[in-house]
This record gives sequence, C-alpha cells and structure tokens, in this order.
Amino acid sequence: MTNVYENELLVEQYLLFHYGTAEDQLPYRHGPKEALFYPVRCVSEFLPPIGAVARALDLGCAVGRSTFELSRWATEVIGIDLSRAFIAAANRARESGRVKIRRQEEGDLTTEFTRELPQELDRERCRFEVGDATDLREDIGQFDLVLAANLIDRVKSPIKLLSSFSTLARPGCHLILSSPYTWMEEFTPKSNWIGGRYNADGTAESTLDGLKKVLTPDFDHLRTTDLPFLIREHARKFQWSIAQATMWRRK
Ligand SMILES: C[S@@+](CC[C@H](N)C(=O)[O-])C[C@H]1O[C@@H](n2cnc3c(N)ncnc32)[C@H](O)[C@@H]1O
Repeated sequence: MTNVYENELLVEQYLLFHYGTAEDQLPYRHGPKEALFYPVRCVSEFLPPIGAVARALDLGCAVGRSTFELSRWATEVIGIDLSRAFIAAANRARESGRVKIRRQEEGDLTTEFTRELPQELDRERCRFEVGDATDLREDIGQFDLVLAANLIDRVKSPIKLLSSFSTLARPGCHLILSSPYTWMEEFTPKSNWIGGRYNADGTAESTLDGLKKVLTPDFDHLRTTDLPFLIREHARKFQWSIAQATMWRRK
C-alpha cells in the first residue's frame, strides 16, 4: 500500500496546519478559530501541570510542530514518523528555523510564503527520525512523556502501539493520546480496531472503552478532553474534527 503521507500535497497541507498563522489558515470572519494550532495545543493543554521533563517522544510527529513545542518542557525530544517526506520537512524546519509553505487556493492556484518558528523554541533539543511507531529501534530508551496525536487510527496494529507504551514510559511518567478515532480499513484492518465497532454480543465498544481496557493494567487514566482541529484543504474547503485527548500516568 502506498503511504498517503509521502504525497507532496499532504506535506504542504501539514506544513500549513503546523506552522501557518491564524490568518494563513482561516482568513474569514466565519469558522472555528478555536480549532487552530492543534499541534501546539496537544502540548500546551497538558504540559503545564506536568512541568519540566528530561526526555519526550512524539510518535507520528508528521512535520514536527508538537516536537518543537515539547522542547519548551523537555531537554531532549525525539519525533518519529513513518513518512520520509514529513521527516525531511521537519528536519528542514529544525535546521533553518523557518518553513516554506505552498498553500492550495483553488484548482491549480497556490500561494507561497515563509513562516518563522517561534524564537523561544529550542530546536537543538529536537531530533527527527524516520521510523515505525509500532516497531521502534531497540535502543530508543525510556521517556518521561510520550505523545501520540492522531496516530492510533492510522497504524495497522493499535494494540501493538498501545502495548509498547508500558516499556517506553518510565514509572510515574505521562502519556498523551489524541485522536478523532477515524477508523478506516485503508489504514487499520477492522479486526484490529480497538473501538468504534460492535462486539459479538451486539454491545457497542467505543475507542475510549478500548483504550481503558488495554491501558489500565499499566496506566492510571487522569483526564479526557475534546481537542478540535482544523485542516485546510484549499481556500474554501476544510476538515473540522474534534479529537478526544486522554492523559495517562504510568503506574
Ligand atoms: C493524521 S497524521 C497526524 C500527524 C501529527 N501528529 C498531527 O497531529 O498533525 C498521522 C501521522 O502518523 C504517521 N504514521 C502513520 N503510521 C505510522 C507508524 N506506523 N509509525 C510512525 N508514524 C506513522 C503518518 O506518516 C502521519 O504523519
């Protein structure tokens, strides 16, 4: 199966989603402004009560904004993504501190501009790697914070991903999961969905139920909240979603 996240159009879309200003993304009187800056909010919503940490891991980091945001709190941050094109874009941002964005307008029309990363982000603390979040290199070590935003419904085996958190997170350390639970067989065979389906006895199993079932042996469930996000496809078409974010602490 070809990886949709290698597609140049998606790289452009994600660069805008991660690094565009409010005006770049939604230059209208209308629209859900509170859904902007999701990759920033995945960190700012949770980190203040946790405070400074040593090592953080951003799984499915895409073009890297949450990884950079984690550098406000962590002395070392690793961002991992399966897409070479996304990681190449994240590395360009890391090296230069700026991103060139080509925004889709309508049809073939595009607009190009450059945006700077916030000065106070410590890019030196961040490293990006191409890798499979469900099959990480053995020497990756343990982390004080693991973030997986919009990833669990994009991997082949969510159970494999969730099971890996027990060894990745040090005891007492935190896990942040956020996802709109858009289960699609294109990414995850239905037999592997951890929720969003009916059990054999006809009872409904939500993804939150599934997460609790898999994670509670090793994690305490601390918090659940809604995190809206907006991805601009072109000037007059947007994807508006409301992710459910959960926070967990390793026992
Ligand atoms: C929906 S995007 C979300 C990206 C980013 N966290 C965000 O919130 O903008 C899903 C990301 O997961 C990556 N991905 C999919 N399967 C993966 C895997 N097995 N390991 C690592 N990354 C994966 C994709 O390449 C893509 O960048």
